[in-house]
Amino acid sequence: MGVIERVWEKARMNKKRIVLPEGDEARTVRAAAKLRDEGLAEPVLLGREDMIRAAAEKTGTDISGIALLDPERSPMRSGYAGTLYELRRAKGMTPEEAEALSSDPMYFGMLMVRQGEADGLVSGAVHTTGDMLRPALQIIKTKPGVSIVSSSFLVNCQRRDLGQDGLMVFADCVVVPCPTAEELAQIAVCSADTARTLCGMEPRVAMLSFSTKGSAKHPLADKVRRAAQIAREMAPDLKLDGEMQLDAALVPEVGRLKAPGSEVAGRANVLIFPDLQSGNIGYKLVQRIGGAECFAVLQGLAKPCNDLSRGCSAEDIVNTAALTAVQAGM
Ligand code: ACO
Repeated sequence: MGVIERVWEKARMNKKRIVLPEGDEARTVRAAAKLRDEGLAEPVLLGREDMIRAAAEKTGTDISGIALLDPERSPMRSGYAGTLYELRRAKGMTPEEAEALSSDPMYFGMLMVRQGEADGLVSGAVHTTGDMLRPALQIIKTKPGVSIVSSSFLVNCQRRDLGQDGLMVFADCVVVPCPTAEELAQIAVCSADTARTLCGMEPRVAMLSFSTKGSAKHPLADKVRRAAQIAREMAPDLKLDGEMQLDAALVPEVGRLKAPGSEVAGRANVLIFPDLQSGNIGYKLVQRIGGAECFAVLQGLAKPCNDLSRGCSAEDIVNTAALTAVQAGM
C-alpha cells in the first residue's frame, strides 16, 4: 500500500473537521465534495455563500451536506476579533485591525482551528506560502517544546531500493530560509518525528552538506556538523549522522567508503537540507526530473495547517486535507 493510501485509510478511521479558507475556488469546491464522498474529512468551505454556490455550479459539483461559512456574517467573528487582538496587541495590532482581519477567511480559518472549532486547515491554491504561513505562525503558534515551524516532504521515489520501499522524507523545503545550527537540529528532530508518525518509518536521518565527515573545510559544512551534534543531544536515541554528502547518505558503497561505521550512511530515509535554497531545489529535482510524487506537510505548529502549491489540482487538495486530518489525530 502506498503512502497516500495509508493516509486515506487513517483519515477515514478518525474523521476530522478540516477548514478550507479558499472556499469559492473551483478546485477547492471539487476537493470538498471528494472529501465528503470518500469519508476522508468533514470539510468546511469559507467564503460568501453565493460565490461558493456559483463555483460549485460552474464546476458541476454537488456541495449538499458540506458546511459553508461566511466570515463576514458569522456570529463567531466578533469573538475571533477579540482573540486576535489579544494575541497581537503586543505587536502593535489595534482593535480595528483585528476586527478587519477576522473577516479575512485565512485569519478566520486559523482562528477556528485555534479555538477548536476545526481540527486543521488547508490553503494555498490561491494564496502564496508566506500569506498562509504568517497567520499560522501568529495565531496557531508552535507546539510545546518546539520553537521553529518547518516542513517535511513525503517523497515517493520511483526507485524502490531507496528509503523505505521508495518513500523518503525531505526537509526543510518550504519554510525556514537560513536556519541556524540550532534550528537545523530542531528541523531534523521534527522531521524524524514526522517520518515515524505519518509514514510509519524507523527514521535514519542524514544531515546533508557538500562535505562528508570533515572532507571539506568550510564554515557552511561546520554549521551542519554542529547541527548534527545538537540534534544528537536533543534526541540521543535517534539514528542521525552528518555532515554528509547526498551520495554518502544514499549509496551503500559510498557510505561505507566516506562514513565507515555510520548507521545512517548508505541507507538514510530522512534527508535534512542545509537551507531552503538547497531543500526547495532538491525536492523539485526529484519531482520534475526523477518523477517522484511529493506531498508537503508543516511540522512544529500546535495544530495542523498545511499549504498547497498554487498549481495544485483538486486531488492534491484532497490528499493534503487527508494528511492534515491524520496529523490532527496524532
Ligand atoms: N517558526 C516559528 N515562528 C516563526 C517562524 C518559524 N519558522 N518564522 C517566523 N516566525 C515568527 C516570527 O518570529 C514572528 O513572530 P511574532 O510576530 O509573534 O514576533 C511571526 O512568526 C511572523 O514573522 P514575520 O517576521 O512577520 O514573518 P517573516 O517575514 O519571518 O516570514 C515566513 C516568515 C513567511 C515563514 C518566511 O520565512 C518565508 O517567506 N519563508 C519562505 C516561504 C516560501 O516562499 N517558501 C518557498 C515556496 S513553497 C514551495 O515551493 C512548496
